[in-house]
Amino acid sequence: MLAIIGGTGLTQIEGVQLLAERSAHTALGSASSPVTEARLEGQPVLFLARHGHPHRIPPHRINYRANLLALQAAGATRILAINAVGGIDPAFTPGSLVLPDQIIDYTWGREATFFDGDYLPLKHLDFTWPYDKNLRKSLLAVAAKEKIPVHAGGVYGATQGPRLETAAEITRMARDGCTLVGMTGMPEAMLARELELPYACLSLVVNPAAGLSSEAITMAGIEQVLQQGMGEVLKLLRAFVRT
Ligand code: HPA
Repeated sequence: MLAIIGGTGLTQIEGVQLLAERSAHTALGSASSPVTEARLEGQPVLFLARHGHPHRIPPHRINYRANLLALQAAGATRILAINAVGGIDPAFTPGSLVLPDQIIDYTWGREATFFDGDYLPLKHLDFTWPYDKNLRKSLLAVAAKEKIPVHAGGVYGATQGPRLETAAEITRMARDGCTLVGMTGMPEAMLARELELPYACLSLVVNPAAGLSSEAITMAGIEQVLQQGMGEVLKLLRAFVRT
């Protein structure tokens, strides 16, 4: 069953038939919200609001491990994460959809593994390709068929937040090779890998990253882009579950 992790701007999916609500409680604490099972285009899907519903949990305080465990317990077999991000590559203008293929992790102090020697014995897992190849491929195929423009690659730089970056931090990230910046891409992607759940991230660019535009980054500006952009995300999601 496909699970959708909704980020900023997507705390619930409108117009779906709710089937069940599954517990947020796990062996590693509470997930951000209960997992909802709903029918989307006739197909059962799971949905979890990453920041809670309503949106209240900051990126560095999200219990990513509980979120992943709750989805697994609810029967998720693959995960599509939706993330609002800043664009670093000039081609990634506000409103663009990007399916990144790489990650650079700048976060710190987050519970980032199940294999910590407490919950599970230590293990070092391969993460060369952080996102699931097949899931990315199917999403890109659906996007092409539906004529929904999606950039087929990007390097997601995961920052700690909740503050936005400085201009110098973005210059450094660009030099590192990041083309997108967001606060929630990690450790989520790695935790999914640890649970052997195929995982992909669909990023919606909601602002040019810090220092790349003459205007300050404001929530009002971001919200404007989010409204329309999440419409496109939902269109893609619906088409994807129909296939
Ligand atoms: N930086 C980090 N996270 C973000 C941004 C940004 O510019 N926009 C949306 N999420």
